[in-house]
Amino acid sequence: MKVSVFTDYESLSGFVADEMNNQLLAKPNAVICVASGNSPKRCCELFTEKVKNNGTDISQFFFVGLDEWGGLGPATPGSCHYDFITRLFEPLQLPSSQYHVFNGLADDLQQECVLMDKIIAEKNGIDLMIVGIGMNGHIGFNEPGVDLNLLSHVIDLDETTKTVGQKYFTEKMELRKGITLGLGHLLNAKKVLLMANGSAKAEVIKKAAEGEVSSSFPASIMQQHPNGWLVVDEAAASLLTSVRP
Ligand code: F6R
Repeated sequence: MKVSVFTDYESLSGFVADEMNNQLLAKPNAVICVASGNSPKRCCELFTEKVKNNGTDISQFFFVGLDEWGGLGPATPGSCHYDFITRLFEPLQLPSSQYHVFNGLADDLQQECVLMDKIIAEKNGIDLMIVGIGMNGHIGFNEPGVDLNLLSHVIDLDETTKTVGQKYFTEKMELRKGITLGLGHLLNAKKVLLMANGSAKAEVIKKAAEGEVSSSFPASIMQQHPNGWLVVDEAAASLLTSVRP
């Protein structure tokens, strides 16, 4: 796993936006998966600006959403789908034929998983994944104890995720289930960037990068990805010792 440390959130976000844009220049029909949440917010803004300013061809780009809260849909600010619409689909005017996201409102969430896996397989896999890390070491909604080889699945959310997740909503939400790409998808993706910023993430970044690889701390799987890249700001990198460049 490569590790890069950036001065601050802005330069980190600029780097990740460049990676997304460069991926499309190298392969216009690339499949890119991005997390929602706070970490990738600025890189999505910078990416959409870059696409517009540079005239990047996005006519064959295909986007995949990493995860969704069970029971929430695009109309709820704070849902993953809402983030994808406001950060990417609307600014890029991306037609619905060029993305697929989990429908958290579906009656049958298992069927949503089957559909997601089928679409990713038909697209020959994910070229670039941009993920964040939760305070319990989750990636997407791959919660502690998850089978590291799973593809899409529905999961009972960890207590930490239910509590920390409240930050995305203006009023208290009952968060019980998540639907997510699995770590099998992450291991199969051609390239994965795990991004984190801020001192609150320093401890989990240390565990992910320098701790034992274990399903009890899912982000540690990054150490096993042949093309995994940890991209963090100085504050999130502050506890790293052995892997620090
Ligand atoms: C969100 C997601 C989560 C977040 C993680 C970090 O789609 O998949 O795994 O990436 O909880 O969240 P932030 O970036 O808000 O700190």
